Amino acid sequence: MDSMSLDRVNEIIDKYMEDQGALIQILLDVHQEYKWILPEAAKLISDRIDIPITQVYRVASFYKALSLTPRGKHLVKVCLGTACHVRGGVGVMDRVSQITGVEDGDTTKDRRFTVERVNCLGCCALGPIMTVDGEYYGKLIPEKVDEVLENYR
Ligand code: FES
Repeated sequence: MDSMSLDRVNEIIDKYMEDQGALIQILLDVHQEYKWILPEAAKLISDRIDIPITQVYRVASFYKALSLTPRGKHLVKVCLGTACHVRGGVGVMDRVSQITGVEDGDTTKDRRFTVERVNCLGCCALGPIMTVDGEYYGKLIPEKVDEVLENYR
């Protein structure tokens, strides 16, 4: 965790301490703050709310929104659902991988991007589509991907 402080983890636990069953809320807030559930935070949560660390990990691994590995500053989702696939989604995904150097589910070494392949982003008519931090980019061509990701450097 380098020199990152766990002060925020303590503050988040304090906020939910009174609330029974607050584990998921604590984990969500810690994830929002650090972009992943770092082992030191999992241990601190386990100690402070007095539940086994295995339970912390069980809950953390159940929810797709929670990551147990470091995530990038920006989350790139590339749609490879049927509609986007037939419109050239694979070319978009390939270009994202070329630029970032990572494949589906991975994070760049500089922790700038996490790349995920998804099955539908709910706006098939705009395919092929990708999102960066929830911002939609539709009717993409591979050449346009460079321009989009450049905005997040
Ligand atoms: S298949 Fe890509 S948005 Fe639906």
